[in-house]
Parts: sequence; structure tokens; C-alpha cells
Amino acid sequence: MQIAYLECTRCGEHLSADRPQNVCPKDGGVLFVRYDLANLKGKLRREDLLGRVASMWRYADVLPDAAPVTLGEGFTPMLPSREDANVFIKDEGLNPTGSFKARGMSVAMTMARHYGLKRLAAPSAGNAGGALAAYAGAAGMEAHIFMPRDVPLANRMECDYYGAHVTLVDGLISDCGRMVAERKDKEGWFDVSTLKEPFRVEGKKTMGYEVAEQLGWKLPEGIIYPTGGGVGLIGMWKAFEEMEELGWIGSERPKMVSVQAAGCAPIVRAWEAGKSASEMWTGASTFAAGLRVPKAYGDYLILDILKKSEGIAVSASDEEILAAMRHWASVEGVFAAPEGAASLVAYQKLRASGFFGAEDKVVLFNTGTAYKYLDMIEAQEKRTRPDLPAARSINIGGIIGPY
Ligand SMILES: Cc1ncc(COP(=O)(O)O)c(C=O)c1O
Ligand SMILES: [Zn+2]
Repeated sequence: MQIAYLECTRCGEHLSADRPQNVCPKDGGVLFVRYDLANLKGKLRREDLLGRVASMWRYADVLPDAAPVTLGEGFTPMLPSREDANVFIKDEGLNPTGSFKARGMSVAMTMARHYGLKRLAAPSAGNAGGALAAYAGAAGMEAHIFMPRDVPLANRMECDYYGAHVTLVDGLISDCGRMVAERKDKEGWFDVSTLKEPFRVEGKKTMGYEVAEQLGWKLPEGIIYPTGGGVGLIGMWKAFEEMEELGWIGSERPKMVSVQAAGCAPIVRAWEAGKSASEMWTGASTFAAGLRVPKAYGDYLILDILKKSEGIAVSASDEEILAAMRHWASVEGVFAAPEGAASLVAYQKLRASGFFGAEDKVVLFNTGTAYKYLDMIEAQEKRTRPDLPAARSINIGGIIGPY
């Protein structure tokens, strides 16, 4: 629907959506898209969604009014766990480009094209770059992507094939972000960095709508979400507020859980210290590439949501993540990205601690597919189990071959 205005999440300032905007000019706050939902209330009912397109654009009424740049993203499966009756796996690995980043980039590119932007830039831990490259390619725009040199091979390769301009950086996503900021004005790039434009959140919020719709409009007791920049968590929370305004749900909310890698856990550290913002994590290291975000731009929003929802932040070591990947793959048939498998580690810890009981319905987000991480997974296997022979022998149809 038509955007009413953009609102700063820090100072409440209203900005026009008639032209492209990044962050609040006063205080750098993240901008949220606001619509006249009161006017939609009663006119758009939950039942009206039945039979609509099986992509996130089924929620077009609560997304910006522009011709979508779409590759069929969203409306991913909500898989009931085969192990725990009240656990569901929201499998975002089935999105175009293999991760939930497709959702955000679909709306960001929709609006970039709507505004007539031609040249876009972003730093990326990997998957956001791949998604940006794909959607920019599909929309006929230039993408300039800055990624750490050691991102998964799939991310480098997909960006290349989608026709993006890629710069590999000896550093982390924060270093890449600095390079985009330094060069964007001179180069005429529009910055689509995480939370530095308002539309990636709009795409990610559709995960919140889907959780509600796929669970029969009753929100679960908990949602576990692998958190780097936190856009998914922030987006889902926004969706819950919007759905309440629309009269689709009540005031109940899930406990929101951020899971981070033990080797880069700035939100966990801030949460445990009771802080409302995080500090830059030094020496960030994990094979869950999307969680290697030493400082999230929207940390104040993430921490606020954890608090308001009576949630929690927990960390998972790379060894725990690798074991969870194997477990999910062998038990559930889901070959999850390391970030996604971290959700299972968090769930196991929170069940053990009593934070969640067996009767609590909990949705675990698998944010991507493991197929994009084969090189990282193999390297992590070698680090975790150096005792294993380099080439494990397995029996394939009678032929003994290297694994
Ligand atoms: C597979 C995967 N999961 C989770 C994340 C973290 O996402 P967010 O920035 O929404 O916290 C990323 C980010 O790159 C990712 O690629
Ligand atoms: Zn502001």
C-alpha cells in the first residue's frame, strides 16, 4: 500500500518516502516504513490471503506500492520437527539465492527501481551480497559489493555470475561497510547496507506474517533467530505490531531469542551486561559467516526487542553448530546453514535450562542452506576433528571412493 511516511526509530522524526532515504539525518537512527494501517483495518482480513501468490508478495497490502522485483521469494515451508512435537523449522534455505536475504533485497530493489536508482552498494558477510547481486541483476541495476576475502566460495561465485562488481577485503563486514561509506558519494552509489535504508526490513518482516499465517494466526511461545545485523528479528517484531494494528492478532508476543556464534557475540555480551547497545567485538571468528558481524547498526533495536519480549540472547560454539548441522540433516532432512543450525543449539540449551518447556511452541529459523557453505563446512570438519583422515572412505554402490 502507499507509504504514509518514514519514521526514525530513535527520535520519531518523520521523513518523506517520495525520494530515497538512508538513515535519520538528525541522529543516524534506523528508518521504519509507516502505512495508514488504521485505514486498512477491517478492509483486509486474514481470510483474504487465501489463494494468493505463494511468495512473500501475498502480503503486498502491507508492502510498498510499487511493481515488485521478484524471484519467487518467501512463503517458505514451516516444517514440524520430527523430534519435538512443539518445534517448527522455518526453512529459509529454500529462498532464491539460498537464504532469507532474498526477502529484504526483493523489496529494496523494488524501491530502488521505483526511485530510478541505477547504482547500488553494500557490504556483506556473504549472503546479502549474493541476494543483492541477483535482484540488482534482475532489475537491470549495478551492484557494488564489498565482502571479506574469506567469505564462502558460493558467495563470491554467485556475485560474479549475477554480474555484480565485487571487492574482496582483508577484513570483516565492518571494514567493508567503512569502504562503502567512504566511496559512495564520489561513485554515485546508493547505500543498501543492513538497516541503512528502510526497505530490507520491510522484506524481512514478511517472515513474521508467515509465522502467524502458517501457525493458524496463533503466535508461538518462542522464536529463535540467528542474529548478525538483526534485520530478521527487527522485521518480525515490526510485523507483529502491524498485525495487531490490523486486528489480525492480539497483544501476545513470542519470546524472541537471538543466537550468535561464540566467536562473535556482541549482542549476547550486551544482553548479559544489561546494556541497551553493544560494543564492537574484537577478533570475530566463526564459520557461520553471516554471524560474523562485530557491531550491528540496529543493536539498540535488537536489545529492546529481546527485553520487551522477555526473550534472551545465547551463543553457540562452532563445534556445537557443526554437530547441530549433522543432527538436523540426519534427523529432519534439513541441511542447514551454520547460522540456522545455531538455532537448534540455542533451543537445546534453552530446553536444558528450563527457559522453554516441552509444551512451548518454538519456531527455529534456518536462515539459509548449507549448500552455500560446503568449503567452510569441510574446513570446520577438519578443525573440529583433526583425527579424521583427510579422505574418509565411504562405500558408494560398491565403489570405495574418497569422501
Ligand atoms: C544464513 C544467514 N543467517 C543469518 C544471518 C544474519 O542475519 P541478520 O543480519 O538478519 O541478523 C545472515 C547474514 O548474513 C545469513 O547469511
Ligand atoms: Zn532520528
